[in-house]
Amino acid sequence: MSLSVLRRVPFFAKLQTADLKEVYKISRIREYGPGEPIFAKAASAEQMFIVLSGRVKIYTPSSSKKRKTFAYLQPGDFFGEMALLEGKPRSASAEASAYTKLLMITKRDFQRLLTRDHPRLSIYLLKVFSERLRRANEEIEGFLFRNILGRVAKTLNDLGKRGEKKRGGVELPEHYTQQELADLVGTTREPLTRALSALRRAQLIDHVDGRYFIKDPDKLNSLCLIEA
Ligand code: CMP
Repeated sequence: MSLSVLRRVPFFAKLQTADLKEVYKISRIREYGPGEPIFAKAASAEQMFIVLSGRVKIYTPSSSKKRKTFAYLQPGDFFGEMALLEGKPRSASAEASAYTKLLMITKRDFQRLLTRDHPRLSIYLLKVFSERLRRANEEIEGFLFRNILGRVAKTLNDLGKRGEKKRGGVELPEHYTQQELADLVGTTREPLTRALSALRRAQLIDHVDGRYFIKDPDKLNSLCLIEA
């Protein structure tokens, strides 16, 4: 991995070249296979991570049929910083959901980077926290005010924000199984399948070559706003 690769990661783009070189020297790369755990909720924490390639699922484990995935993280995203900042155990579990390469930074180095007068890095972290809080608020609103169709539409719409625009619509950036979508929405397979079928019948989405395609993003967006 070269310095220029690191420079393209938003987290590192905020650092001065001298610090970037230091991070380059001190950080370690870890590789995980699909389904391999990275850490478990409530475990003690000594590192934070940056996704270099692949995909990471952040979720809360549950013994019931319902599970909750908080987010799928993609290259450039970071995670594992909350426990380090708060001095508390991990707030959620993390697992590689594809072949994944991570850059690992120790607690000591992370704290050193933050305290060494790096307002740009701190502002970037605050911006990402703010985005996560906004999304979490929208999810709470969804649980209270939206029916399952609206919640599925909102989830697809959110995933589509990182998707590729083509043929007047948007293709989701990754393949998601129905179980993965159900865990993101916070429901079980059956209601999720019914909602997806309704959206397909309404010509709002399609499933092409294993990926969901949002045919009419505007209409799907308006469905997200309908209250239950
Ligand atoms: P930490 O608590 O150390 O371990 C779990 C990590 O998941 C947490 O730090 C965050 O980095 C990440 N995380 C928790 N909640 C969310 C969320 N809603 N969206 C994205 N990442 C999250």
